[in-house]
Amino acid sequence: MISRLLPQPTARLRFREMVETDLEDMARMLGDPETMRFYPAPKTRSESAAWIERMQERYAGDGHGLWLIETHDGEFIGDCGITWQSYNDTPVREVGYHVTRERQGSGYATEAARACLELIRQEYAPTLLTAIIHPENTASRRVAEHLGMSHIADDHAHPWIVRTVMGMIVHPLDQSSTA
Ligand SMILES: CC(C)(COP(=O)(O)OP(=O)(O)OC[C@H]1O[C@@H](n2cnc3c(N)ncnc32)[C@H](O)[C@@H]1OP(=O)(O)O)[C@@H](O)C(=O)NCCC(=O)NCCS
Repeated sequence: MISRLLPQPTARLRFREMVETDLEDMARMLGDPETMRFYPAPKTRSESAAWIERMQERYAGDGHGLWLIETHDGEFIGDCGITWQSYNDTPVREVGYHVTRERQGSGYATEAARACLELIRQEYAPTLLTAIIHPENTASRRVAEHLGMSHIADDHAHPWIVRTVMGMIVHPLDQSSTA
């Protein structure tokens, strides 16, 4: 059976798997037009429920997914984690993150993504880790750069958008973390 992973808690955040009762919080975040402005559309409540289900399939099938992130007091902050994606037909692990609008700009995505990077280093290194980003999503790109990623490719898989692929080779603990 595949082992299910969780990043270590950080100074302000802890990770856990999403459950059905997170729907209220997830639907509020994923339904917010401002937060989802780089997606085709904000998610409806039923699409948010499907998102949670999809993550539960990923935890079981891949051992990882986007985990719910919350403060140590249990305040919902968003999600962050590791999923399989692809660019130009190449499957890659990606670090992903979404932070609720009121809590954006406080360093939470960078803090959470760093914990995911450490998990990757511990469990899968050496490996390529990516962040596949809408070309105008500056905040997301900045998070990727804070991790040590740089622009490695452009994804042409979709006819309507060329996405920016940020990436880095993650080395095991006893080696340098950049490519
Ligand atoms: C991307 C996102 C997760 C970043 O979360 P966050 O907790 O605000 O990120 P941080 O506070 O760690 O900030 C990361 C950087 O983005 C910058 N930033 C934050 N909001 C920004 C905005 N609206 N426009 C431009 N830059 C912004 C910050 O200044 C920071 O850069 P700096 O360190 O150079 O100052 C958040 O903006 C979000 O949820 N966006 C919507 C979902 C999304 O697009 N996810 C990524 C999919 S690829």
